[in-house]
Amino acid sequence: MDRIQAVQALLDKIKGKTYLEIGTDYGNSFFAIHAKRKIAVDPHFKLKLKKKIKGVIVNILNFRKEMFFEVTSDDFFLNNSNLFDKNKLDVALDDGLHTYEQSLKDVLNVLKYLNNAGFIVLHDCNPESESEASHLALQSGGPWCGDVWKTIVHLRSLRSDLRVFVLDCDHGVGVVTRGKPENMLNYTPEDIRLMPYSGLEANRIKLLNLKPENFLEEFIKGVK
Ligand SMILES: C[S@@+](CC[C@H](N)C(=O)[O-])C[C@H]1O[C@@H](n2cnc3c(N)ncnc32)[C@H](O)[C@@H]1O
Repeated sequence: MDRIQAVQALLDKIKGKTYLEIGTDYGNSFFAIHAKRKIAVDPHFKLKLKKKIKGVIVNILNFRKEMFFEVTSDDFFLNNSNLFDKNKLDVALDDGLHTYEQSLKDVLNVLKYLNNAGFIVLHDCNPESESEASHLALQSGGPWCGDVWKTIVHLRSLRSDLRVFVLDCDHGVGVVTRGKPENMLNYTPEDIRLMPYSGLEANRIKLLNLKPENFLEEFIKGVK
């Protein structure tokens, strides 16, 4: 199981049409995912498209709309929320800037436009080592999970309207959906901001509501 399979399984379950990807990079996940309307957001695309990407590209070949916005997620939500007036978001992959502050902002923005039955998938929620969670990993070009894990802890502490868990695969694949949480944590945003990586290491399963990767199948069976 990886982030791409998780996104696709969730889209398929709810027969979702609209997919948003925050942080697209080379398009490895974006192009692998099948949905009728796909929207990619990244301030620095590295897509291997021949045409210079500018605003919206409609890929008529496979009757799918693929839209590319070469801006930060903040700018995207500020200027393009009308995209979701008629058709809300079904599934979003939040894989942009891997900081607590920005990943949380992205989740909160997505929630404004997410269908009631929709899902947010967050990548890189379960760093395997302190170096993967550190900003130095970004500079060294290695896997960088940053502190997206803190966004999971935040949602599990402060949002009694959201169900949140993390699959133990692909650096941690978080799933967020509307509904009653299985259980909640009791941290303030300030506690979370100050929480060191050792706090995660000592209590990974509880903090992240960490599940084995095959849990997704069971979870999806329970989705009405
Ligand atoms: C880990 S890569 C995404 C990988 C891609 N989703 C995949 O699975 O192949 C992270 C991307 O986030 C982008 N990014 C950084 N800051 C961003 C922001 N503020 N808004 C949106 N994307 C951002 C980077 O340019 C980079 O391409």
